[in-house]
Amino acid sequence: MSITLSKRNKGLKGRYTVPGDKSISHRSVMLGAISEGTGHITGFLNGADCTSTINCFRSMGVDIEYDGGTDVTVHGVGLHGLKSPEAMLDCGNSGTTTRIISGLLSGQPFSSSLTGDASIQKRPMKRIIEPLSLMGADIRSKLDNGCAPLIISPSKLHGIAYASPVASAQVKSCLLMAALYADGSTTVTEPALSRNHTEIMMRALGADIKSDGLSVTLTPGSRLYSQDIAVPGDISSAAFLIAAALTVPDSDIVIQNVGINPTRDGILRVFEAMGADITLVDKRTAAGEDVADIHVKTSSLHGTVISGDIIPTLIDELPVIAVVAASAEGTTLIKDAKELRVKESDRISLVTANLKAMGADIEATEDGFIINGKGDPLPLQGAKIEDALDHRMAMSFAVAALLADGDTVIPHPECVSVSYPDFFKILSL
Ligand code: S3P
Repeated sequence: MSITLSKRNKGLKGRYTVPGDKSISHRSVMLGAISEGTGHITGFLNGADCTSTINCFRSMGVDIEYDGGTDVTVHGVGLHGLKSPEAMLDCGNSGTTTRIISGLLSGQPFSSSLTGDASIQKRPMKRIIEPLSLMGADIRSKLDNGCAPLIISPSKLHGIAYASPVASAQVKSCLLMAALYADGSTTVTEPALSRNHTEIMMRALGADIKSDGLSVTLTPGSRLYSQDIAVPGDISSAAFLIAAALTVPDSDIVIQNVGINPTRDGILRVFEAMGADITLVDKRTAAGEDVADIHVKTSSLHGTVISGDIIPTLIDELPVIAVVAASAEGTTLIKDAKELRVKESDRISLVTANLKAMGADIEATEDGFIINGKGDPLPLQGAKIEDALDHRMAMSFAVAALLADGDTVIPHPECVSVSYPDFFKILSL
């Protein structure tokens, strides 16, 4: 059922927490499942995407204690202990599950198949099919359209040196998973550094993995041993609260315990360049990841240029950054972000259409946006949003609604359940 939101007249105040990091939550289950021993995960994201990952591993015989909360216990079966799943694995809406598990499945001595919802079945899988095939994997798209369902049969994997054409942590992690089962080292080189949570966690669990600039090399042969993992809050979820606090007048909030890994913190760097009053408090590390509390106050923002190597570090945040840019003073140029077109929706088209519907001056380019921000005195207008069941679209335009005159309708608020189940409740506080 749709939700109608209107302009927020009081500032956001106080201390907030956000759900656990989605990327780290996925990896904690995937890598825990193929480790030896039992690992306790705290701060797990209890969203639908990570539940899909849990269900896939349960289908492969892994005993995972999980009751829908934020604590998970994974009884690892070791690198060679997975069992053949009886049915096609269902990855739901999760591209991370689909792509990373495909690498793991390619190294197993059993056949498997996997698919997901309507959105997953449209997302590009050639980016993993091609390099996995170079490793010797037997993986194909069932409909021969480069998309899921994917069918995987057992084969012997070889190490490769792969220069990925895209900066994608899902592609990199997929290949690193397959590399655990290859007969030699695998090196993946990216055009720009994508999030490195897989590398950090694999290293902590005992894998022989070395990062060198844009390259990472995994040498198989080491066993993985379970560890307890404290998942930090997700900066991609914190992004919506940061954006709201920066733009809704008289806001002053602290978001506690957020992951600020340098491969994920681009949003902070961009907002700072736009003039934001953001302070990182009590910087620390947890599970090898940088963590801090983020203090945000309403700020007068100006336009900026966002391009190049910073893009992978804020790729999921670009929709809400575009919303903030529309209310900042002056022009914001976002380029080199073509990947946005193949996320849960075509986020370049949808952000542009929705911001236009709200009266913003925005133009889509092939790989980004040109946004002529209106500054504070000219607010956005409420509109009926098209969310395409994309969680980040629904949340980005919920933030826009707080700044808009008149009502804004989000048609499918329930789609936020994949990454931030309580989002609308938190936003209304
Ligand atoms: C993710 C990687 C990114 C990101 C996605 C999560 C991950 O995707 O957009 O939300 O956990 O590895 P790409 O690898 O397609 O860039």
